[in-house]
Amino acid sequence: MMKLNSPAELEKYRSSVLEKNNSGETSVSVCCGTGCSASGALDVVSAFQRLLEEKGIQADVGTKITGCHGFCEQGPLVLVSPGNILYCQVRTEDVEEIVQETLTAGRIVDRLLYVDPITGEKIEKEEQVPFYNKQLRLIFENNGKMVPTEINDYLSLGGYCALEKVLKGMDPREVIEEIKNSRLRGRGGGGFPTGQKWESCYTASGDIKYVICNADEGDPGCFQDRSILEGNPHLVLEGMLIGAFAVGSTQGYIYVRNEYPLAVKNFSIALRQARELGLLGENILGSDFSYDLKVIRGGGAFVCGESSALISSIEGKIGEPRYKFVHATEKGLWDRPTVLNNVKTWATVPLIINRGSGWFNEIGTQQSKGTMIFSLTGKVNNTGLVEVPMGISLRELIFEIGGGILGGKKFKAVQTGGPSGGCIPEELIDLPLDYEKLTEVGSMVGSGGMIVMDDTTCMVDVAKYFLSFTQEESCGKCVPCREGGEHMLKILEGITRGEGEERDLDLLKEIADTMQCASLCALGKLAPNPVLTTLKYFPEEYMAHIKDKKCPAGVCRELIKYLIDPDSCTGCGRCIKACPTEAITGEKEAPHILNQDQCIKCGNCMDICRFNAITVE
Ligand SMILES: Cc1cc2nc3c(=O)[nH]c(=O)nc-3n(C[C@H](O)[C@H](O)[C@H](O)COP(=O)(O)O)c2cc1C
Ligand code: FES
Repeated sequence: MMKLNSPAELEKYRSSVLEKNNSGETSVSVCCGTGCSASGALDVVSAFQRLLEEKGIQADVGTKITGCHGFCEQGPLVLVSPGNILYCQVRTEDVEEIVQETLTAGRIVDRLLYVDPITGEKIEKEEQVPFYNKQLRLIFENNGKMVPTEINDYLSLGGYCALEKVLKGMDPREVIEEIKNSRLRGRGGGGFPTGQKWESCYTASGDIKYVICNADEGDPGCFQDRSILEGNPHLVLEGMLIGAFAVGSTQGYIYVRNEYPLAVKNFSIALRQARELGLLGENILGSDFSYDLKVIRGGGAFVCGESSALISSIEGKIGEPRYKFVHATEKGLWDRPTVLNNVKTWATVPLIINRGSGWFNEIGTQQSKGTMIFSLTGKVNNTGLVEVPMGISLRELIFEIGGGILGGKKFKAVQTGGPSGGCIPEELIDLPLDYEKLTEVGSMVGSGGMIVMDDTTCMVDVAKYFLSFTQEESCGKCVPCREGGEHMLKILEGITRGEGEERDLDLLKEIADTMQCASLCALGKLAPNPVLTTLKYFPEEYMAHIKDKKCPAGVCRELIKYLIDPDSCTGCGRCIKACPTEAITGEKEAPHILNQDQCIKCGNCMDICRFNAITVE
């Protein structure tokens, strides 16, 4: 690759790439994000390549190995262009038919199309699938269109235009003003105004300044940052370059957790390619601006995502938070002025520079601009990564994009913001989602985790689960978080065992209050959220556990009993075989009997029974 020495040379290079790419050829994009790869996408790619070669149509049809398209649950996904025909759950056995029918004869393979779970209708094009057509995919726009390891693909989609614009005609102040005017807020959870952060670093004194990308993403079930890095690494890099130019930084780091090998690999390839082209390193595009960065692989501790802990970790110290008497923008990494932003924040920067702060300002709500990416999971029909404008309602997200509740069950609550977020009940289903509204109801945007729950979920158990995560992940440095979390967890365990007392509820609130006020970092301050929101919105469920010694959702083992309904039991014997403790006995074709003393309440019998003869009380 040749080194480009000016924005004009970049433009010329881009035109030559576009000329080559604009042959109007048919292409097959196979999602090879982590989700689809886990379901066999790489084998699907090999099958396409083999078959196209065998049939001698390889030259006319390009096979693209792309990053995550978001609809991982339906993977491996195959997108055929032109036409944007979406095939779901494609196996290697299906490849021949796609080649034969769609690529050769131009016909649709009906059985591989997406089926709407509500209408039963088969949908042909990606943009017609409700999961996609209600989204506003800005950051994810190009994930399915490009090969992440090909810088030319990124360039042909307008990549590095924003950097070019900045180097051609903007000074650092103007860049900061543009980001400030866009009112972009940090996507790492806290929602701090990005432009303001950059300005503090710009005005801070010091020759060496650092620009860092936080790609730690430790929240269970969240994988949006990972998907962006895997699918479009240059977008993040371009954002960081612009940030570095704006604040006057020449060095930086990206802190990625080691469990994200594909993200590390693709980002490292992007760094190498950008360096080769003269887009990273000394005198970028022939200008005075120089910037380079290193990849640091994190050990996988949730607390290392916290900014000061992350900085300590990069410095080679234990990843524990520090009290922030002075902001990192003045004294951050190695006590030098530092800007640290989340992956999504960096990925948004080139979009704002390209399309303008005014454009960005029109998306979202009064105080929360732009889009937010949620990892939609749990008891919902369509799970995956969803990018929506801020302000969309929970109802639209869960029932339109998410396609409603799995198995037609009743919606009970949704947990947003990762383990430190809160549970929102059904009565707030029309809540518009933005930073303010979620905080008002006791939750938060956080990392964008969103777990949908139906009426088979016990809210006390949910609070216990999330608290056990944060308690386990606490670094233990400060007393309120370390001891408070453990004490709250013990109380919750007691309640789910039927040993709770009414005064426990006051004690939970009291400890939560202390943790919120006195913890060193936001891990401890936010950890009580799941407990407080479940106490607020589901008090009757706590009382049922405490007073009646019952778990209404039938989840807490110590409080439930499995029973066999003799009228429904056909004596088929399946439950006898499934029971690990031989608690079920009986003759063939006669109602079976469940011995409560031997039952360990694993629920296997209920899961396996075909006649709904097992009930839980
Ligand atoms: C316990 C804890 C974990 C965090 N984990 C992450 C993370 O994985 N990624 C992230 O960007 N921010 C995380 N944050 C927020 C960061 O501390 C910081 O606010 C953020 O990276 C700043 O970037 P932004 O302004 O772009 O949001 C975490 C915060 C806490 C308290
Ligand atoms: S990994 Fe394929 S859609 Fe997410």
